[in-house]
Amino acid sequence: MDQKRSRTFSGVKPTGHLTLGNYLGAVRRWVEADQHRSDALFSVVDLHALTVEHDPARLRRLSRQAATLLLAAGLDPALCTVYVQSHVDEHARLSYLLECTATDGELRRMIQYKEKSVRARAAGDGVRLSLLTYPVLMAADILAYATDDVPVGEDQRQHVELARDLALRFNQRYGHTFTVPRATHPAVAARVMDLQDPMSKMGKSHENGSGIVYLLDEPDVVRKKVMRAVTDSGTEVVYDREARPGVANLLDILAAATDRAPAELAGEYSAYGALKRDTAEAVVELLRPVRERHAELAADPGYVDRVLREGAERARGMARPVVDRAYRAIGLLPAA
Ligand code: AMP
Ligand code: TRP
Repeated sequence: MDQKRSRTFSGVKPTGHLTLGNYLGAVRRWVEADQHRSDALFSVVDLHALTVEHDPARLRRLSRQAATLLLAAGLDPALCTVYVQSHVDEHARLSYLLECTATDGELRRMIQYKEKSVRARAAGDGVRLSLLTYPVLMAADILAYATDDVPVGEDQRQHVELARDLALRFNQRYGHTFTVPRATHPAVAARVMDLQDPMSKMGKSHENGSGIVYLLDEPDVVRKKVMRAVTDSGTEVVYDREARPGVANLLDILAAATDRAPAELAGEYSAYGALKRDTAEAVVELLRPVRERHAELAADPGYVDRVLREGAERARGMARPVVDRAYRAIGLLPAA
């Protein structure tokens, strides 16, 4: 029997250059699995990049670069829909209805809000209201497409949980409108840690880039960063994320890059040096084709523009009926 294909949605924020964490936690699975087995949309979620201090010209550059990198990593516009969030009005349009579904307490509990608002205050910047409401916009991203699966890194678990809660609440109050989504995470490397600070996530916008591998780093830069990774005191190579976070992070990265299990790899090393060398080479080889393809695509911005234009058109067509249904369900009078 012909079964309906599931729907996948995920996105990446253009707040900085894409990292190895983005690739292993999210993008690689979109390329290898999700775009083949489901009806999938992948978005450069630029509206989300406005929640913290930003520079308009840099945001434009990073948005184009992120889109180019998604294609370079292997997203195929013949298989999936790639587009820029702000090109499709339905996200913002649905977000307001979900703001009328969520409570402020629910949003103040979000871990990322707590962490980032402290950081913004410490930097002397105001906390933008959108930093608080951001998970509602993310819920709108997901729910507007009747999404089943949301492939993300571990850090997005709580946000996808909120999208589920809002879908269930809205459906219960106003009648069935939204598909209830679920998050999926990779088996290994769902949370890649900073090489200089293995207690924090490898994030795009750390001030100091020496613990972050960027997808476009030159091979020698990648090698240097991995070889200088902070390891733990002790010399034995064991896989223990709590007690030996630095070594465990290297094992996770090597495992993800070579399709092996981190605990099994640990048994094959007796020194940190060899582990670092192999990890560095595995990452260089993993990223090589992405860098090469990015250089080709960056030379042809007309192609990327065309993909984004067609992607936005397709996305609009998918989101529009769902959002219209939500407007009716909540009691807004349809325009005659
Ligand atoms: P962001 O860069 O925050 O927009 O994240 C885009 C995607 O990459 C999301 O699915 C994140 O969960 C994932 N991601 C970001 N950083 C990491 C990391 N250090 N480890 C694993 N996944 C990550
Ligand atoms: N909030 C996500 C992040 O920071 C990015 C994102 C926005 C997203 N909207 C989404 C991810 C919808 C999955 C689905 O990584």
